[in-house]
Amino acid sequence: MIHNRPPPSTTTTKHNKQDYKSFQLIPIVGKTLILLFILSFISIGLYTSFYDPNRSGITPTTASRRNPNNNSPTDLSHILFALSGSNDTWDDRSRSNSVWWSPNRTRGFVWLEDAQRPDSSPAPNSAPTRVSSPEWTQFGFSSSRPAVRIARTITDSFGLKLPGVRWFVMGDDDTVFFPENLASLLAEYDHDEMWYIGGNSESVEQVVMHSYEMAFGGGGFAVSYPLAELLVENLDRCLERFHYFYGSDQRIWACIAELGVGLTPHRGFHQMDIRGSAYGLLAAHPMAPLISLHHLGAMNPLFPGQDHLTSLRTLYGAYRADPPRILQSSYAYDHTLNWSVSISWGYTVQLYPTLVAVHDLQVPLQTFRTWRTFSEGPFTFNTRPLKGSDPCSIPIVFMFVKVQNIGTWGTLTVYRRLDPAVTCRRHDYDRAMSVRRVFVSSVRMETDYWSKAPRRQCSEFVNGGGRMRGGTLQIRIRKCGDREIVSTVE
Ligand SMILES: *[C@@H]1O[C@H](CO)[C@@H](O)[C@H](O)[C@H]1NC(C)=O
Ligand SMILES: *[C@@H]1O[C@H](CO)[C@@H](O)[C@H](O)[C@H]1NC(C)=O
Ligand SMILES: *[C@@H]1O[C@H](CO)[C@@H](O)[C@H](O)[C@H]1NC(C)=O
Repeated sequence: MIHNRPPPSTTTTKHNKQDYKSFQLIPIVGKTLILLFILSFISIGLYTSFYDPNRSGITPTTASRRNPNNNSPTDLSHILFALSGSNDTWDDRSRSNSVWWSPNRTRGFVWLEDAQRPDSSPAPNSAPTRVSSPEWTQFGFSSSRPAVRIARTITDSFGLKLPGVRWFVMGDDDTVFFPENLASLLAEYDHDEMWYIGGNSESVEQVVMHSYEMAFGGGGFAVSYPLAELLVENLDRCLERFHYFYGSDQRIWACIAELGVGLTPHRGFHQMDIRGSAYGLLAAHPMAPLISLHHLGAMNPLFPGQDHLTSLRTLYGAYRADPPRILQSSYAYDHTLNWSVSISWGYTVQLYPTLVAVHDLQVPLQTFRTWRTFSEGPFTFNTRPLKGSDPCSIPIVFMFVKVQNIGTWGTLTVYRRLDPAVTCRRHDYDRAMSVRRVFVSSVRMETDYWSKAPRRQCSEFVNGGGRMRGGTLQIRIRKCGDREIVSTVE
């Protein structure tokens, strides 16, 4: 558990030592001694009257007494998903849900305001539904009535008292989770402490309007058991007072703030508050596991020529083959040809017939606009402009097609070239355009890869870059050598 707080005893010991030192420095005058004794009695009295062993963190919390297997590593079985949906839209939304939901592995429910019609037909293998308990209708609201009900899905989920739950993960019916990565992430935190883990928005206009300290609900967020317990105790009073907020996530955040718990932000939860194409963002994912994607239906499909659902299945095909590696970047240079290659594993490969430094490659090309006002920015991360750029500065793009297993230890992913909208008329670009496919081989990432200090993996050209056969460029991703650097200079 790397995120544990330091044991409470360390600070106490420090204080005691200092007190002892200063005590020695006091001239021994009878009057002062008497005063000291009186003072120490008062402070011991104060200390014991405020001291509550159940809250000190020294004795086990109620949560750890509840479950004898409490110290086993956290896995998917310890997560209860609390998804919010609507009886009218669930049939449709259940299609994308069924891509990531697996009935015997993921636990949880989609909470609807009312039962679905008898003739409804949600996708097979999508999350089971339940109807929200009706108390939510008593609370006021300013803009969105469902926001109250959605906030209470944590109350409804907690009330089920299902065994072995360590984390409640809230999300929308159109949030796509990557459950194995989520479980690995949560396994790093002590579920007996109060944690609120999520991400915020991509659009600055959205975080300014809501909060930088809030987990945006569409990207999903995790609440540990003890925090859920305290939140549920207080939530209805918060809903009463915070009726003027827009969303359910803002209500939850405001209520958690009063419990003294702050957001632990994590890159990899994606609210996806962007419009247009998410390509640039997913082609330059930060060095963190992919946890969720949201709003996919509101953007262009992830893969050109495929609809939303097919796109999601395509990406998920890669994910299943090597979950921790999905969308992870790796860069390779051919210093003879002056080529730069940027891989976003399982999604895309970009080829530049020039040498582009890593600090530029890792910045997303801006293929999107802001969520609310469809503006060119700003975003909560840097972007590289795409609009109006010289066609010769735009990379040649290859999209993921399929994955094959190599034995039990590795994979081969295949990426096919897209026809560029505008072609650069330059000799070096023409030569790079002779690449039609990219094959990428890699060893599967260890499941604990992300519990260590994150380091991007290295890549190398197999057969030396441009000396490829039949228009196929072959690249191998591998661990970097201890002192290996990836640079435009050799
Ligand atoms: C889930 O488990 C049940 C009982 O073991 C089995 O009958 C069912 O086919 C499984 N479903 C899936 C989708 O694996
Ligand atoms: C969903 O619930 C609402 C509210 O009760 C109801 O008006 C609507 O008819 C329901 N829709 C379906 C498809 O059952
Ligand atoms: C690569 O770039 C270097 C430095 O700009 C240049 O001297 C060399 O000719 C280039 N090589 C090719 C194959 O274009």
